[in-house]
Amino acid sequence: MPFSLVSKTALVTGAGSGIGQAIAEVFARAGAHVWVADLRAETAQGTVDRIRAEGGKADALALDVTSDADFSAALERVPVVDVLVANAGVGHVGTLLTTSVADLERVFAVNVQGVFRTLKAWMPGMVERRRGSVVVMASAAGLEGLVDRFAYSASKHAVVGMTRCAAIDHATSGVRVNCICPGRTETPFVQARLKEYPDPEAAYQEMCSTQAQRRMGKPEEIAHAALFLASDEAGFVTGASLCVDGGWMAGMFPQR
Ligand SMILES: NC(=O)c1ccc[n+]([C@@H]2O[C@H](COP(=O)([O-])OP(=O)(O)OC[C@H]3O[C@@H](n4cnc5c(N)ncnc54)[C@H](O)[C@@H]3O)[C@@H](O)[C@H]2O)c1
Repeated sequence: MPFSLVSKTALVTGAGSGIGQAIAEVFARAGAHVWVADLRAETAQGTVDRIRAEGGKADALALDVTSDADFSAALERVPVVDVLVANAGVGHVGTLLTTSVADLERVFAVNVQGVFRTLKAWMPGMVERRRGSVVVMASAAGLEGLVDRFAYSASKHAVVGMTRCAAIDHATSGVRVNCICPGRTETPFVQARLKEYPDPEAAYQEMCSTQAQRRMGKPEEIAHAALFLASDEAGFVTGASLCVDGGWMAGMFPQR
């Protein structure tokens, strides 16, 4: 069966919600044993319960990707993974002028250093065993500047850069490193942003109308791209920034 993860162990950060949750579920359906890692143990457990209810194999892991102590504890529980997804991320709205040093540090602590720490934790074992697939969650905002998202967009550019460097440094090691650049995807991340508008429903319609396909992506659509990159069928794919964005990167639109 293509895109099978049978007998593989996968770990997904930020898997208690949204895209990470969908990836954990899709991986479990493909046969993987999935470690569902999240900042909050109870949200991780929620994803585990959903997977187990479908007959899949999963366990929860409390992991704050900004905490070295959490990584030490996580490595003791899960020393070996075949597939690693560095998905945890946070957003921030602001221009250079309205973004403080503290804002920038908070966003980079999760989106940049959190990805770095995640790769540092499990990639050495993969390189030693000479096999593994790493999928990093970047963003379309990591390939071009996004209006009013100075810190977020800059952090995702760093994520694309880390993916490329890790991929070429270890290209002959049997370990592949790729990132996905989603466009706007309907998750709690976006829903929280919509609630900040006076009329969330109107803001939702407006957001959809500015997308090339006139709709946002679904978490499962990102998850299936992650499954491809994780699978052995993607053996010749490394260092890629895979756009799953409904056409965002194909050309100009009036508004993002
Ligand atoms: N939703 C979109 O439109 C979109 C677009 C492009 C890229 N992305 C990226 O996809 C990833 C997932 O986004 P989402 O929309 O599913 O978000 P979400 O907010 O629904 O889920 C993010 C998850 O990450 C967890 N998390 C946050 N900080 C953490 C930390 N320090 N340690 C561990 N876990 C932490 C949260 O608890 C949450 O469960 C992010 O990296 C985001 O930047 C999202």
